[in-house]
Amino acid sequence: MNILVVNGPNLNFLGIREPEIYGKQSYYDLVNFLLAYGELHRIDIEVYQSNHEGEIIDIIQNNYLRFDGLVINPAAFTHYSYAIYDCIKSINIPAVEVHLSDITQREDFRKISVIEPACVAKFYGKGFNSYIEAINHLQKRMNT
Ligand code: DQA
Repeated sequence: MNILVVNGPNLNFLGIREPEIYGKQSYYDLVNFLLAYGELHRIDIEVYQSNHEGEIIDIIQNNYLRFDGLVINPAAFTHYSYAIYDCIKSINIPAVEVHLSDITQREDFRKISVIEPACVAKFYGKGFNSYIEAINHLQKRMNT
């Protein structure tokens, strides 16, 4: 199984940005955590990050054919990017939305996800483990 993980703006600043919300671990720690999980469970995982909307779309369009599923943390784009919504709708692999923080318990604008209707599931509020829940969901989906 191959999973493409795409992270949106400011996630490269993990450990620096609002550690009381996002934790003290760095983006590098997140990537290593995901790759180690993949190795342990024999899942091929590739992880990308971009601060730019168009680049996120390019990453998805240029790579999705090699993958069985997409795990995406669109970060702030979650709340307003119809371009990323359209991009996810246009690919024929399942996508799962993830967030480190509990977006339901924060500012009102974070309660809205324009990405959600393009995804098969959504996991949030568990820090790095939100990604693992998303990967497990895709794995279960593939095996049923
Ligand atoms: C986030 C939540 C978003 O609202 C925010 O803009 C982010 C990170 C999360 O992982 O909790 O940048 O996607």
